[in-house]
Amino acid sequence: MALAPMIVGNWKMYKTRKEAEDFVRSLASLIGPVSRQVFIAVPFTAIQTASEASKGTSIVIGAQNMHDEEEGAFTGEVSVKMLQDAGARFVILGHSERRHIFHEDNAFIHRKVMRAIKHKLNPILCVGETQEERVMGKTHEVLLRQLEEGFKGIKGEEFVNVTIAYEPVWAIGTGKTATPQMAQEAHAICRGFLQKRGAPHVNILYGGSVKPETIRDLLAQPDIDGALVGGASLDVQTFANTIL
Ligand code: PGA
Repeated sequence: MALAPMIVGNWKMYKTRKEAEDFVRSLASLIGPVSRQVFIAVPFTAIQTASEASKGTSIVIGAQNMHDEEEGAFTGEVSVKMLQDAGARFVILGHSERRHIFHEDNAFIHRKVMRAIKHKLNPILCVGETQEERVMGKTHEVLLRQLEEGFKGIKGEEFVNVTIAYEPVWAIGTGKTATPQMAQEAHAICRGFLQKRGAPHVNILYGGSVKPETIRDLLAQPDIDGALVGGASLDVQTFANTIL
């Protein structure tokens, strides 16, 4: 049986603790008991506050990144145990802003995925092609490389609680959503990869300028199991409209 669609907000570098707390309380009252799985990836500093505010609601709080090592001399980094201690239940890994602005490569992202799985912190691995790669007809190849390298050596049961997010880089924060057909084609590539790894039921989210007006047609596609929402997750009413 298919699970309820997963809607994941990604706040990026927005919101203080007070703003996060107010948002979580308002969202919980706006959406009530809902037939969606609702997640928010908040800044590190707001994880504890947001996770306390989410108690007794259907909202799940997580993080947007983490380091791959258990602990060590890595000034400014945050470990998996620190995230869990603060109350995070999932972590976004390999977001395109991490890949492109902070030059994270597939090998580093793979080590993070392994660390998260080891500690049972549910990872959401982001993959997606740039505009240039799409124009050059390389979408298929790029997605498969990111999936193969990101999930190197992982199969079957090890995919439990793992999620994939397909986010075309050209659609993130640009207002240009992929058409439902374009998104479905990319999701089918991800699904094919998962089938080969013996994990066909892993959720695959679409991300990139998702809004209340565009989400329904995206979720109607057979291989789109939810959405990763950036800009439209910052305003509580807009995010509630995206969820409902
Ligand atoms: P966007 O961001 O919805 O603002 O395009 C999506 C994301 O980066 O996860």
